[in-house]
Amino acid sequence: MKKTVLLLFILSVCYQCKKQPASPTGLVTEQAMVVSAREEASRIGSEIMQKGGNAFDAMVATEMALAVAYPFAGNLGGGGFMVYRKENGEIGGLDYREKAPLSAHKDMYLDSLGNVVPKMSTVGATAVGVPGTVAGVMEVHEKYGSLPLKDILQPVIKLAKRGVIVTEKQAKRLDSYKERFIEVNGDSTKFALGFKMGDTIKYPELANTLESILENGKDGFYKGEVAQKLATFIQDRGGFVTEEDLAKYEAKWRQPIVFNYKDLKVISMSPPSSGGVTINQILKMMEPYNVSSYGHNSLKTVQLFTEASRRAYADRNYFLGDPDFVDIPLDVLLSDSYLTKRMADFSFEKATLSSAVSHGMVDIVESRETTHYSIVDADGNAISATTTLNGGYGSKLYSEELGFFLNNEMDDFSAKPGVPNMFGLIGAEANSIAPEKRMLSSMTPTIVEKDGKLYMVVGTPGGSTIITAVVQTILNVYEFNLSMQDAVNAPRFHHQWLPDMVTFEEEGFSVDLKSQLESKGYKILEGRTPIIGKVDAIRVLSNGKLEGGADKRGDDTAIGF
Ligand code: DON
Repeated sequence: MKKTVLLLFILSVCYQCKKQPASPTGLVTEQAMVVSAREEASRIGSEIMQKGGNAFDAMVATEMALAVAYPFAGNLGGGGFMVYRKENGEIGGLDYREKAPLSAHKDMYLDSLGNVVPKMSTVGATAVGVPGTVAGVMEVHEKYGSLPLKDILQPVIKLAKRGVIVTEKQAKRLDSYKERFIEVNGDSTKFALGFKMGDTIKYPELANTLESILENGKDGFYKGEVAQKLATFIQDRGGFVTEEDLAKYEAKWRQPIVFNYKDLKVISMSPPSSGGVTINQILKMMEPYNVSSYGHNSLKTVQLFTEASRRAYADRNYFLGDPDFVDIPLDVLLSDSYLTKRMADFSFEKATLSSAVSHGMVDIVESRETTHYSIVDADGNAISATTTLNGGYGSKLYSEELGFFLNNEMDDFSAKPGVPNMFGLIGAEANSIAPEKRMLSSMTPTIVEKDGKLYMVVGTPGGSTIITAVVQTILNVYEFNLSMQDAVNAPRFHHQWLPDMVTFEEEGFSVDLKSQLESKGYKILEGRTPIIGKVDAIRVLSNGKLEGGADKRGDDTAIGF
């Protein structure tokens, strides 16, 4: 009898722990918050909201401030995606992804023998796609902004003039890229100087470019003097972007991908990002299983997640591309019956080989950088935005005159079917190059609702690992009951179909777990492994307060009030 009472007591406690959301361990604020890769950017965004601006105003400020404070990935010369959820539940998505120039064509990165020319889509002017970021933020401001542009951009312009203090992590990074900056830009580039921790980098030229945008809006970047200088700069170095390409660029509003996972409603980016579709597939393939009972990062959880990811990435690489150019059979790919069939051969006994799902072996080569920020304002409007130059400092091509780096986003196209890009992703016809087409992305800005209310805003950089990092963060909070900050900091792993390997971050996974996986047929990436994502997220607590999750892997910071 005593035993039964004790058991009931334990069960009820366990039930309570599952029901009680984890106490916050990250920054908690009452009303509003920005979490981004740099303190300066989070602060500017938060101050905009303190002055009465909404989340959309804060997005414009944060995105532009990241271009100043975090040129590794923050940008004027790149592109991104944003998903929003207004306080009244209205949702939407904005695509400000780069485009292929008008002169682009399918085989532009192939030599006369049909082989991919090394570095042509990754380094220097030939790698540059038509930038979308300025069009994106101007579109957001025009449609949903509440403060005058001047109030939003002035603090950013001041920051560019005053300069940004180099952090320890940034100093290391600048140092490790120095030779590549010189290779692309010559040794008179500002970045040939070398910077130490504590130095200040000023960007007066970027301040001028921002002034031009402040005066003339989108046209201050895509037309007139800035556009002319930018196009000439790129073309003089062998690139393809023309004034006409710039003048024609437009950001596009897109319907987000929306689906339920148990009692959550997930809202994420639609193609040309693969993020929403792929997290939808992964989570739906996992949904029938009682994941929380398996335990966080346990053998069964890693297996189930890996197998769902394997199948989802195989579909991603084959079917997805710019929806303005290719028909994507979303109704089939996201249907319950299709996803159930995809998992029919899954078993906890043994790994499915990727070669049984498709074929090929590839390596991940370059380090990657992008950046994500999450915003919630005092009214409860939420913004999830991921923005990128693609590689760290993009193509490494830096316009001294305009003050910013240019992307190498053309590498996100499939230069040749079956040949991996720098994230080891193998593409197909759906993501082949065509004039004005947008290259497929993995960026996954995501917003999650629970019981009809805002629950989480989440996203990350990480190239092909973005998708798995976002799913793991959602599961960490929802299934494994971690606080937002702990969910973001928790060790992550990744699988993307090809190469047929599971990558684990260096810290946090036992040798025993890995050998158990190996005995079931999983191949583990050995040696030094990179960090997987740098997640910046916000959770709404049951008392309505906000908890930030700023990834400890970077200089990421949550600021709010
Ligand atoms: O759009 C994409 O999927 C890639 N260009 C993102 C690159 C990225 O995340 C690099 N970051 N760490």
